[in-house]
Amino acid sequence: MEMWSSALFLLVGLSPAVVFLLQLPDYTATQEGLWQDYKHGHQGPDSPGKRPFCSWKCLLLSLQWPGAFCQSVDKETLCKIPLSINNWTIHGLWPQKVGRCCSCWPMFESDVQELDPELNEHWPSLLKSQPSFHFWKQEWEKHGVCAACVEGMNSPLRYFQISLKLRGQLDIQRLLEDAGINPSCERPYKLGEVQSVLTPHLGDKHEVQCVTDDQGREVWFQVKIPISRNLTVGCDHHGDPEAQDSLQGHPCPPQVPFYYLPIDHEAPRRPCG
Ligand SMILES: *[C@@H]1O[C@H](CO)[C@@H](O)[C@H](O)[C@H]1NC(C)=O
Ligand SMILES: *[C@@H]1O[C@H](CO)[C@@H](O)[C@H](O)[C@H]1NC(C)=O
Repeated sequence: MEMWSSALFLLVGLSPAVVFLLQLPDYTATQEGLWQDYKHGHQGPDSPGKRPFCSWKCLLLSLQWPGAFCQSVDKETLCKIPLSINNWTIHGLWPQKVGRCCSCWPMFESDVQELDPELNEHWPSLLKSQPSFHFWKQEWEKHGVCAACVEGMNSPLRYFQISLKLRGQLDIQRLLEDAGINPSCERPYKLGEVQSVLTPHLGDKHEVQCVTDDQGREVWFQVKIPISRNLTVGCDHHGDPEAQDSLQGHPCPPQVPFYYLPIDHEAPRRPCG
């Protein structure tokens, strides 16, 4: 709460006392009211600071490459790449907000049951310890609830449907394939090379993210794609990105070629032996 209010203070330049007054309603009196707003896609009164979790301008769609996912988590973390997973998968769809979403909207398995086959294919958990539903629920609670104040994403079902739809529109693997950029143990790629293929489709603000593997190589594991509130690709607002997750990614360095590793289901941490 402390960090949150100073972030908000910086953002809107209000005195801490005012911020304190403004933030009270979000967590106490009007939770039920907020939930009703969410449910009906209302955006509520437009006073800045009153509903910071709905004042975001951009979303980030984060897609991960299973070929390097295991290198992006701690050694001790047990990852798994199910045999059926051979393509870029969704990590999340994140409103670029300040602070937490309210904990006013729980999610149950039945909420997304009809999407199970698609979610399992495109949004699987790649951690052994985490069932896929737990992953989805966590993403919903941390990010989806904040997205739900926008009509069209105002339920778990709709939020996951929109995410799947965006993923379907952005078939990175095919774009790369068509440009001759294929997973390889031998051939590293330059950032410019990859960006020239992706930019026309993902906008020039997308971020290509790498991790450094055991052997000190840069390996490509994620792409973050800015999406506007109206769900078109590209968004210029330089929001207030927070630490989104515990993964150790960084922007792939422009000078150092990086690897786009093949997926090895048997040895996901060491796809190249
Ligand atoms: C990856 O998924 C897209 C659909 O999003 C599909 O068009 C493409 O063929 C898939 N590629 C592979 C190698 O499965
Ligand atoms: C979506 O929003 C962006 C940024 O606000 C704007 O530039 C664009 O024209 C909008 N597109 C549509 C289809 O409304």
